[in-house]
Order: sequence, then structure tokens, then C-alpha cells
Amino acid sequence: MRWLVPFTGLVSLLGQSVAAVELTLGNEASVKSAASTIAFGLLKFYTGNNTGDTPGNLPDPYFWWETGAMFGTMIDYWFLTGDPSYNEATTQAMLHQASNTRDFMPPNQTRTLGNDDQGFWALAAMSAAENKFPDPPKDQAQWLALAQAVFNQWATRWDEETCGGGLRWQIFTFNNGFNYKNSISNGCFFNLAARLARFTGNQTYADWAAKIFEWEQTVGLITPGFDIYDGVTIKEGNNCRETDQIQWSYNHGIFLHGAAVMYNITKASSVWKQRIDGILDSTVKLFYKNGIMVEQFCEDPGFCDIDQQSFKGYLTRWMAGTTQMAPYTFDTIRPLLESSATAAARACSGSPTAPSTGQPMFKGIPGTACGFKWTAPFDGLVGVGEQMNALSAVMYTLVSKVASPVTADTGGTSQGNPNAGLNQPSIGSLPEITLGEKVAAGFVTTAIAFGVIGGSVFVMF
Ligand SMILES: *[C@@H]1O[C@H](CO)[C@@H](O)[C@H](O)[C@H]1NC(C)=O
Ligand SMILES: *[C@@H]1O[C@H](CO)[C@@H](O)[C@H](O)[C@H]1NC(C)=O
Ligand SMILES: *[C@@H]1O[C@H](CO)[C@@H](O)[C@H](O)[C@H]1NC(C)=O
Ligand SMILES: *[C@@H]1O[C@H](CO)[C@@H](O)[C@H](O)[C@H]1NC(C)=O
Repeated sequence: MRWLVPFTGLVSLLGQSVAAVELTLGNEASVKSAASTIAFGLLKFYTGNNTGDTPGNLPDPYFWWETGAMFGTMIDYWFLTGDPSYNEATTQAMLHQASNTRDFMPPNQTRTLGNDDQGFWALAAMSAAENKFPDPPKDQAQWLALAQAVFNQWATRWDEETCGGGLRWQIFTFNNGFNYKNSISNGCFFNLAARLARFTGNQTYADWAAKIFEWEQTVGLITPGFDIYDGVTIKEGNNCRETDQIQWSYNHGIFLHGAAVMYNITKASSVWKQRIDGILDSTVKLFYKNGIMVEQFCEDPGFCDIDQQSFKGYLTRWMAGTTQMAPYTFDTIRPLLESSATAAARACSGSPTAPSTGQPMFKGIPGTACGFKWTAPFDGLVGVGEQMNALSAVMYTLVSKVASPVTADTGGTSQGNPNAGLNQPSIGSLPEITLGEKVAAGFVTTAIAFGVIGGSVFVMF
């Protein structure tokens, strides 16, 4: 199959001063062509497969996790559109960042590697297993085993010493945020556990998913009205009640989708249905304006940071996934996906002549750079997040045209290993920690942080 979209894009440019990305919903060819144009602009930001660069890294200012999120998007892109153009770069990046320990804990990233960062790569591996993304060669890491490796490490990092459970944001004591338990880290754990339960049929994963969700509720991060707050700070005497109440679209998305997976595998349990309905309702109230998705906290005031500029793409991904796992939500979600897709494509009309503040220059087709706001014409903000959000908005409208994610029993081919990720020699590859950092963090917590890498190491401490 050949993909000629860059050329169609250029042709339309010749005739018009403002190109924008044309999109006719309901016309599969049009949706695929629009997605291809936007994907082309997105991958132009990626330099990791150039000679001398590192596969799986985006240039500054993008953090490592966002590349994992991007390749997760590209795995779905291939599945939804059939366009294999980026598969090679995707596999190369995924395997390189899985690294020798096969757990998405590359030593180079230790300084920025929190549970949520590792999580976005693990979720990409899970999507690869569920979508039957081509399996790597036998001697390489396998998608399902990678997801299990990260699950296993999270299970050993579950910390009952504070707040009655939960994953901390950070893995290493010396990184800021080790004293914070946040919804996205626990959301990654929850979402992955639910999907592993569905894929493998192993009840242990389902039990974990239920436990994580209930912990989020008990600690007050998911409220009775299904607001989902960012996280709690662990401080002596504060009882884990010092809550950061900012609500981010990806937190709603990741819990919504995980709840839908649990609903599906429990054969429509009323508990999970109530959770889906509650989160979906809260999502629509918070993150949609006239049917168009907005990052409610920072989009209108205009202070979303580089990370936050990519969150709408993930909410889109998980809204679409929810319609597969809980088909009764389709009638509610489809119109929201469609109105956002139309708005997002309309905002892909930029021809920037200079980079947005702090981001690299757009090198896609002129007239097709996507802005951040979808409630307005092209707003001039351009970057990986903007491009990835719009790609998601457009391509996930195809969700009802494709098969549901497979399981081990329904055609999945990815090889797993329930014990992956445990007893890794990762400890030897940690960067040197200064005495100051050790003292600041305290020996006990350091031991916990190290212990989580491999059960045996903890015993040695
Ligand atoms: C890197 O990947 C992109 C997208 O798949 C591809 O167009 C490009 O040729 C690749 N570059 C190298 C050096 O392989
Ligand atoms: C770690 O950094 C080195 C030096 O830049 C690079 O060669 C290597 O590929 C990196 N490893 C990973 C897993 O990114
Ligand atoms: C189910 O998952 C748990 C947790 O990872 C694992 O310990 C157990 O071996 C798995 N069971 C099977 C039958 O694979
Ligand atoms: C579970 O997901 C499958 C695949 O999408 C779907 O056909 C089925 O109806 C779902 N089950 C429930 C209870 O909604």
C-alpha cells in the first residue's frame, strides 16, 4: 500500500492560501488521509532514528515518557488506518527503550523516570499485544512480557506504609515527587492490570485493578461524584489529606477506560457500570465545551506546559477504547469524538515560520500544523502534543470500524511471562547517588525505593 497523502496535501496547498486538514467524517478514506497528513507532521519531530541519535527519544523539550505516549499512539494509528509507514521506527524505539532489562527502566532516564513515565511505555506495549502489532524477533523482548514486567514491578512498589497503599509518583527517592502519590501513576497501574486480566484471564490482575480503584476512592483521589484529583502529598501527620485537586483530562480517561475493561470482563457488573457512568458524566462536564474537548484547567488561560499540551490525545484514546469494552457507551461517546475530530482538523491549518516557544520547528506540510485549542481556529501553538492530540482526535473516529483488542484466547500472539521484571540486575545500572541525596532521602525510604526494583535486593538491604 502506498500512502500519498503528503502529495495531496501539497496539491491542495497550491490552490489555496489556507490548506487545513480536510476531514469528512463517515468517509473512511478521508479520515485515513487526514490522519496520515497529521501523523506525517508528528513524526517529523522525531529524530531518534537518525544516525547518532537514540531510538525512543524526542528532542528537547520533550520528556522521555512522551515518546512512549507517541509510539503508543502510532501503534493504534497503524491498527486503525492500516498504514505501516511508522512501524519500523516504532518497534525500534520500543525495544531500545525497553532496554536490556526488558522493563522500560533504561538507566539513562533514571533522573526523569517515575512510575507514570514507565507506565506510558508499558501501556504502549499492552496496545501492541492487543492490536497484534507485529511481534518482535524471538530473541527480543515481547510486548505482553514487557507489560507484565512493569506490572510486576509496580506490585512490589505498592506502598502500604503511607496512605494505606498506592504507588508513589517517583520510583527513586532522590527524584522530586517521591513523597507524592498521584492518580496518573496509579491510573497506569489500574489500566494495565485491568487489561492484563482481560488479555490473560489471570484473576490476580483483576484483583489488583479492583484494589487500586478502591484505594483511589478511599484516599479521596476519586470522589463520590467522580472528580479525579491529581495526587496526595505524604507528610508526617497530614494523614494523606493534602490533596492537589487539579483535574487533568488524562486521569479521567485512564480510569474510565480501565473501568470499562473491568466491566467487560466481569460481564457487565453493576459496580463497574456505575463507575463508568460516573466518570463519563464527570468527563463530559469538565472536559467538553459545546461537544469539543478542552484541557479545562490550563487551556483557556493559556498556561498548559509541554506535558499538559498532550493530555487531550490520551483522553481521546481512552474514550474510544471505552466504546469497545462497554459498547453501551458508544451513543454517548461517538458524538463527542466526532465533534472534537472536526474541530481538531479545522485547527490544523498552521504554516508556522518560527517555532512555538520552547518547541522545535514544525517540519510537516505547510498549512497542516495543528494548534492546541480546538474551540478556535489555529492558535499558533505547535508541537508534539498538539500534533498527537489532533491525530488522536481524527483517527479514533475509526474505532467502530476495527476489531476489538484481542486476548490470548481470541487471536493474541504476543508471548508473555508472568514473572517478567522481577529480580532484574537493574540495581547495578543505577547512576551514582551522592551522599547528600541519600541523607536527604533517608536510609529507610532509599531501601524501599531500591527494594522495588527486585525483591531480592530489598532483602539484602
Ligand atoms: C526514521 O523514521 C521515519 C518514519 O518512519 C522514516 O521516514 C525515516 O526514513 C527514518 N529514518 C532513518 C534514518 O531510518
Ligand atoms: C543511553 O545513552 C547512550 C549515550 O547517549 C546511548 O548510546 C544509548 O543508546 C542510550 N540508551 C538508551 C536505552 O536510551
Ligand atoms: C497470574 O499472575 C500472577 C501475578 O503476576 C502470577 O504470580 C501468577 O503466576 C499468574 N498465574 C498464571 C497461571 O500465569
Ligand atoms: C465486551 O467487549 C466485547 C468486544 O468489544 C463486546 O462485544 C461485548 O459486548 C462487551 N461486553 C459487554 C458486557 O459489554
